[in-house]
Amino acid sequence: MTDSKQNTLWGGRFSESTDQFVQQFTASVNFDRRLYAHDIRGSIAHATMLTDVGVLTSDERDAIITGLNEIKDEIERGEFQWSVELEDVHMNIESRLTQKIGITGKKLHTGRSRNDQVATDIRLWLRDEIDFLDTEMKRLLTGFMELAEREAATIMPGFTHLQTAQPVTFGHHLMAWFENIRRDRERLADCRKRANRMPLGSAALAGTTYPIDREQTRDLLGFDEICPNSLDAVSDRDFAIEFCALAAICMTHLSRMSEELVLWTSSQFNFINLPDRFCTGSSIMPQKKNPDVPELVRGKTGRVNGHLISLLTLMKSQPLAYNKDNQEDKEPLFDAVDTLRGCLRAFADMIPAIEPNREVMREAARRGFATATDLADYLVRKGIAFRDAHEVVGKAVAYGVENKKDLSDMTISELKTFSDQINEDVFDVLTLEGSVSARNHIGGTAPDQVRAAVARAREQLS
Ligand code: ARG
Repeated sequence: MTDSKQNTLWGGRFSESTDQFVQQFTASVNFDRRLYAHDIRGSIAHATMLTDVGVLTSDERDAIITGLNEIKDEIERGEFQWSVELEDVHMNIESRLTQKIGITGKKLHTGRSRNDQVATDIRLWLRDEIDFLDTEMKRLLTGFMELAEREAATIMPGFTHLQTAQPVTFGHHLMAWFENIRRDRERLADCRKRANRMPLGSAALAGTTYPIDREQTRDLLGFDEICPNSLDAVSDRDFAIEFCALAAICMTHLSRMSEELVLWTSSQFNFINLPDRFCTGSSIMPQKKNPDVPELVRGKTGRVNGHLISLLTLMKSQPLAYNKDNQEDKEPLFDAVDTLRGCLRAFADMIPAIEPNREVMREAARRGFATATDLADYLVRKGIAFRDAHEVVGKAVAYGVENKKDLSDMTISELKTFSDQINEDVFDVLTLEGSVSARNHIGGTAPDQVRAAVARAREQLS
């Protein structure tokens, strides 16, 4: 018994059509259609190779390529009729091709399976996205460098435990953020290496009986290498997991920066202003200017972390080779890419626009006994053991807390009550400028070191 509604692409062995709900349930076209351009590119390479090895004639190849290019135009003009009955992007395009060019369209799938086709498409798509993300990361890195150079000598409190610890320069803090994203960019480049390998030619799982030339398709599609094992190639989604891992790490970095931006824009800190175009108001409280962009980036970190866990769990315990489970790889990967793109764009736009309130930052550093370590180091230079110096300075701080005086506000006679080793020259180290300038080595917070770090970074940034 045959049924006129059964799927024409694989329905040969079926005696009834798919349950309507099952059809909807198993379809992926609503989300995988965004792979159309890469699917067509892969098909053109496949048809070209099949012709060169003598499986298709050159007329057939030309008809296929013309048809596929027309389909691409139809999709881009919004005229293509996507159909859930045709399950996914691959069968939608193939079926339209056959509609347009007849029986030749049915020959395109020779020596190929949707299993190697989809694995190839995602890699091609992800490679393009990685290249775009790389330029966004570079734009953000440039923003950090420019602001850091401008603020190389701007003093702010450095924190540990969110308590004032030692004075640092704002430029140094920005270059710490720079290092976060620089590592993310390295991870992105590393992920690209393993994503840029070609599954095509693996067919369903075991390879194909046609005399295919995988080296040719590799070259046509710009892959660095051919996946060397067909069973692995159709089932490997490591590259997608790796991408989500690096995306989650990058989002975690952006969330940490976001948290600081949210704190710093609060009236309690008031270290920086974010221009109005990056903020929104409250519908009830007229005075509010909310740092929505960093808050949203902080919040979106959760979904990317979730996508990493989704993909790890998706792949866990899957037997070789392809399983339909793998269709579930796309939505998390797509959303991880889209989210990271949006967040990097927002940050790359926002960072150069930060307006620091230099006086407020400086005053905050002055208030928190931020130069206490400098006083201890001073005593060590006078011959006192560090632990004893620590004790002396602790007493001076307790006195300052009691009398509401910073160390630099105390008179020399007040300071001398804690140690007779303290002399007038102590004020050189108790000033904020003295404190930051003294940390003058690679990786230190001195303004000269920040400028040097920016210069090195600029030279290395490719
Ligand atoms: N839509 C499928 C996916 O995303 C394509 C591969 C389907 N292969 C198959 N044998 N059912 O994974």
